[in-house]
Amino acid sequence: MYSQAKVLAGGLAHIPVIIGVFYLILSLFNKRALKFPQDNKGKKSDVKVASTNATTKKVSVSNAEAPKPVKKKHADVPVNIYRPKTPYEGTVIENYSLLKEGAIGRVNHITFDLKDSDPFLNYVEGQSIGIMPAGEDANGKPHKLRLYSIASTRHGDNFEGNTVSLCVRQLQYEKDGETINGVCSTYLCDIKPGDKVKITGPVGKEMLLPEEEDSNIVMLATGTGIAPMRAYLRRMFEATEKEKNNWNFKGKAWLFMGAPKSANLLYEEDFQRYLTDYPDNFKYTKAISREEQNVKGGRMYIQDRVLESANELFKMIENDKTHIYLCGLKGMEPGIDEAMTKAAEEKGLNWSELRPQLKKAGRWHVETY
Ligand code: FAD
Ligand code: A2P
Repeated sequence: MYSQAKVLAGGLAHIPVIIGVFYLILSLFNKRALKFPQDNKGKKSDVKVASTNATTKKVSVSNAEAPKPVKKKHADVPVNIYRPKTPYEGTVIENYSLLKEGAIGRVNHITFDLKDSDPFLNYVEGQSIGIMPAGEDANGKPHKLRLYSIASTRHGDNFEGNTVSLCVRQLQYEKDGETINGVCSTYLCDIKPGDKVKITGPVGKEMLLPEEEDSNIVMLATGTGIAPMRAYLRRMFEATEKEKNNWNFKGKAWLFMGAPKSANLLYEEDFQRYLTDYPDNFKYTKAISREEQNVKGGRMYIQDRVLESANELFKMIENDKTHIYLCGLKGMEPGIDEAMTKAAEEKGLNWSELRPQLKKAGRWHVETY
């Protein structure tokens, strides 16, 4: 004969087994989730980027209920599928200059084929990949990897979901009267279609887009800092991409772009097309440092444009659906902070208090280098 206590004890003893089975199913589900966008090839809908506002669910400890899954923030965003010890060797599909006649320096758009990667190297907008340049350093060791922001959407420039693109500026500086070329950026700007390149990643969860279609996205970019913004804008406004991603962006996207000369503006024709097609959703403000002057007579930087637009910008920031993304030169951070401080003051706000709040809320995203 079983006593009531024994039945209860027996029932309780099964709980760990039930939890175990539950987590096994959950982990299988997560492994599949990592496979997008391949899984969605040819399908109308796609897997959306995890919301930046996603909250961690708590496990219910009630006897009557089965435990709910603990969903870690951005748990379904792929990371480190390929590491430096076992990189993926991608083939270069194309490598072309993004600059116009009269531009300063060298900035290229480079696309790699991912289709032979196994496991598949998938990624989402706002992530980076690592590149391991060929050759050895001065100590005879293989060169270390360098990170580059991904400039394509998860569907790639060809919309087939099997490529990744970068926007790379060749680093060049003068030392003791000699021109020094950056190792990896020169390697990347020089590679040819058909060449094999060691790729790691993807990495990064700082620059992910929110899932909400009615979010507002403010983008502050200098130079190649445009890379993730180009991916965001394609996701929002590029016709074939929109068909693929089934993400009907309804908010306002405002791009502040800093470049030394007009000929250095990157992806300009695409952005002009988005302005024509989506005048109510896209705003584009440029700061051409060596052709325009700020009010003090100095070079025009994006922070000067931020100050000019303080009112409108802070109206947007007051809306908790607004996210701000900063990408490009590390040196712009103090300038942006200073401009935001002044702009906030004009609205009676304190930026040094506001910024940590925005950061905590997952609405202030910075990737500078
Ligand atoms: P290296 O050969 O490594 O030389 C760099 C070193 O040169 C510096 O560490 C410094 O010691 C020295 N140096 C640099 N400038 C000077 C100077 N003026 N005077 C004296 N010494 C100097 N880059 C892009 O082009 N596009 C991107 O989208 C991009 N995204 C990035 C994303 C992230 C998250 C990070 C961290 C970096 C990103 N970068 C990007 C920068 C990129 O990773 C490399 O740092 C850059 O390409 C230079 O690498 P390199 O191998 O050419 O230079
Ligand atoms: P400048 O070089 O005229 O001083 P690129 O990477 O193509 O050179 O573009 C970077 C842009 O960012 C340039 O217009 C550059 O201006 C500008 N820039 C340089 N330093 C800062 C800074 N501290 N804050 C904001 N923008 C900057």
